[in-house]
Amino acid sequence: MPSNSTKVLLLITLVGGMLVSVSSNSWLGAWIGLEINLMSFIPLMSNVKNMYNTEASLSYFIVQVLASATLLFMVVMKTLTEDLFSFDSNPYAPVVISTPLLLKSGAAPFHWWFPGVMEGLSWENCALLMTVQKAAPLMLMSYLIEINAFTLTIILMSTIVGSIGGLNQTSMRKILTYSSINHTGWMLIALTTSENMWMMYFIIYSILALTVVSAIKLSGVSFINQTMMTNSDTTTIKFMMYTSLLSLGGLPPFLGFLPKWIVIQAMITNNLAPLATIVVVTSLITLYYYLKISYSSFMILSAEPKWNLKSHKNKSISTSWTLMLSSISLTGLVACTMITNIN
Ligand SMILES: *[C@@H]1O[C@H](CO)[C@@H](O)[C@H](O)[C@H]1NC(C)=O
Repeated sequence: MPSNSTKVLLLITLVGGMLVSVSSNSWLGAWIGLEINLMSFIPLMSNVKNMYNTEASLSYFIVQVLASATLLFMVVMKTLTEDLFSFDSNPYAPVVISTPLLLKSGAAPFHWWFPGVMEGLSWENCALLMTVQKAAPLMLMSYLIEINAFTLTIILMSTIVGSIGGLNQTSMRKILTYSSINHTGWMLIALTTSENMWMMYFIIYSILALTVVSAIKLSGVSFINQTMMTNSDTTTIKFMMYTSLLSLGGLPPFLGFLPKWIVIQAMITNNLAPLATIVVVTSLITLYYYLKISYSSFMILSAEPKWNLKSHKNKSISTSWTLMLSSISLTGLVACTMITNIN
């Protein structure tokens, strides 16, 4: 693992690369930004002491390089062939340029690398991969996206894979991965309406993902069966973990419902009611198993092994950080509706 100052440097160039990419006014500049971003993330992921990290960083590297090389090739094609035969009037041009971007952000038919990579990462890197690493490719998608059969297929596959894929998972990282694939689909829906709606969705999703990840990290749980054995002072942490999970799943009193609500409304005003119906049904499947996980560990099985009683170190800083984040996720919807109703 790089030392602390190296990590800070790499985090700065990671965010810098993302900013170069989203603010660039040419495709070549966007590609450069994506590349800087990738080259800063790889060393952050790898850890000589842990072979899962190494495997994850290697497969992430290969997939992302495949995507970048394809993107560069398509962009050069677009530039070189513009006066021979118009690439821009070709209906497949947006499709071929957006495919590598979808591969980078892990939207559904291109999601195969995502669960395996996430399984080998530390929680901090999982959070980065679910949030910051998606910003640039999705922002670039906004230049290409329009409502057509290709986009609708990607959206439907993302939401369906996201909800069915998580059904039988026992690993928290896998569940969060499928949730992230699903939210990528929803973000693409938001993107077809407006960039601002996407931005709102993305920011709220990032806050919620961060909340869930910090609560899970605090409770030291990697698999669902570990949540069954609680101990008295992790009950609060478990409460925060499951309320934020339900918030991520879009259950109404929590903040996660707000972006879902706005996107459903947008779909209906854009005459996409059939799409809205399908994605709402897939989100019901999700809520079913989120509720099932939380219900069983809240109510039925709460065995408390004696050896757990004094095992917890002082974690007050990360506890208060998680508490702050999860109170945003608990009360955010109420606060937002209150703010918009005060006139
Ligand atoms: C997918 O996103 C929707 C909208 O936020 C949510 O209702 C649903 O529970 C999510 N599914 C997963 C697997 O996270």
